[in-house]
Amino acid sequence: MVVSRRGASARAPRTNFESLANSRIIVGDCIAEMSKLPAASIDLVFADPPYNLQLKGELKRPDESHVDAVTDDWDKFSSFAVYDDFTRAWLLGCRRVMKPSATIWVIGSYHNIFRVGAIMQDLGFWLLNDIVWRKSNPMPNFRGRRFTNAHETMIWAARDEHARATRSTTKRSRPPTRTCRHVPIG
Ligand SMILES: C[S@@+](CC[C@H](N)C(=O)[O-])C[C@H]1O[C@@H](n2cnc3c(N)ncnc32)[C@H](O)[C@@H]1O
Repeated sequence: MVVSRRGASARAPRTNFESLANSRIIVGDCIAEMSKLPAASIDLVFADPPYNLQLKGELKRPDESHVDAVTDDWDKFSSFAVYDDFTRAWLLGCRRVMKPSATIWVIGSYHNIFRVGAIMQDLGFWLLNDIVWRKSNPMPNFRGRRFTNAHETMIWAARDEHARATRSTTKRSRPPTRTCRHVPIG
């Protein structure tokens, strides 16, 4: 399987999963699938969870044209409480499978990242850093009533305060920019 390079910079490394003998992609509900994995078996978690965009109706530009936004069922939650319950469930699933030395990365936008961060702290994760992922091609704010939203936030955390998190070092001093679908509201 070859991973899509949509949005990747030309310098980003190419990945061919056939060359990774131990790689396996598990398709399914993340909470159900993680429950089948052994406890304390995972070195690193990277999660890009639903944004909970709370879109009410169709998004339109000032010229009345339609904005192609995320309107999929997986991003529909009837309330913050329902979103929080889902977030707690998958984060607990992650925590169970993480090794004591493992770390977790969670990326999100202002729509969800503050709720996710608070829940992570409530569950005992130990926040190590937050990293701003700057978008090189943000969606303009069509109505001009808010600032253009040109970044996402990544939370990096250890399993708990006393866990010995490991950090792989890299020559890069800054994370690479990435392109990302972005939805302005307001
Ligand atoms: C913000 S998007 C992440 C997209 C991803 N980073 C990509 O580039 O394709 C959230 C993703 O979570 C998936 N998702 C939502 N609920 C899920 C669940 N319970 N189990 C597994 N995946 C889920 C959705 O299908 C969606 O692809």
